[in-house]
Amino acid sequence: SDKINIAIDGPAGAGKSTIARKVAGKLSYIYVDTGAMYRAATWYCLKFGIEPEKEEDVLQMVSDLVIELIPGANGQRVLVNGHEVTEAIRSLAVNAKVSRYAQIEGLRTKLVSIQQQMALRKGVVMDGRDIGTMVLPDAEVKVFMTATVEERALRRYKEMKEQGEISLEQLMRDIAERDRQDEQREISPLRKADDATLLDTTDMTIDEVVEAIVSLCRTIE
Ligand code: C5P
Repeated sequence: SDKINIAIDGPAGAGKSTIARKVAGKLSYIYVDTGAMYRAATWYCLKFGIEPEKEEDVLQMVSDLVIELIPGANGQRVLVNGHEVTEAIRSLAVNAKVSRYAQIEGLRTKLVSIQQQMALRKGVVMDGRDIGTMVLPDAEVKVFMTATVEERALRRYKEMKEQGEISLEQLMRDIAERDRQDEQREISPLRKADDATLLDTTDMTIDEVVEAIVSLCRTIE
């Protein structure tokens, strides 16, 4: 059967990447984590001390930025100009700043165009904030995944527990602040596309969410 594109959007920590990766695995599709691209750009700017307020400098900085997303055995690897940044882009420093850099129009234009290229031949599961509204408005399946902020913080907490560097309360504040910035920014704010299916995953297991999305795909074949 013909391949389709699947857009998955939603607030921070809703489990989009876990779900998108599994859906892609089931359908033998390509998973594209667009958040990793914004994180990679943020990491790069922070490394060279380029503040988000200096938009011209940021754009200059990212003009020769090459981001590679490489599917691997233990999840996706991320390279920036050939450097492995898979772990580094998940740091608290990047978490704290990424939504600020993601407000920069020129950066978004660049990343959106790369993302659209990646989806041209279909068979892509892409997750982010503006995929259904901006990047792939014609995606055959669109999902807007949510969960309560408490549940999202708790999931993150369990994931990060081994590192033990942050409390549940702090995580909840960080997530709420990132959501606020993503929802209120001027360009491509986080919002559900009118034709997206709303999926509240607060009381769902991972397998249930994956199954719900795969069923949506079957209905359009
Ligand atoms: O998905 P993840 O939480 O890794 O995304 C990190 C940040 O990147 C988001 O909080 C948001 O500010 C930005 N982002 C975006 N548009 C996307 C994906 C991510 O603005 N499509």
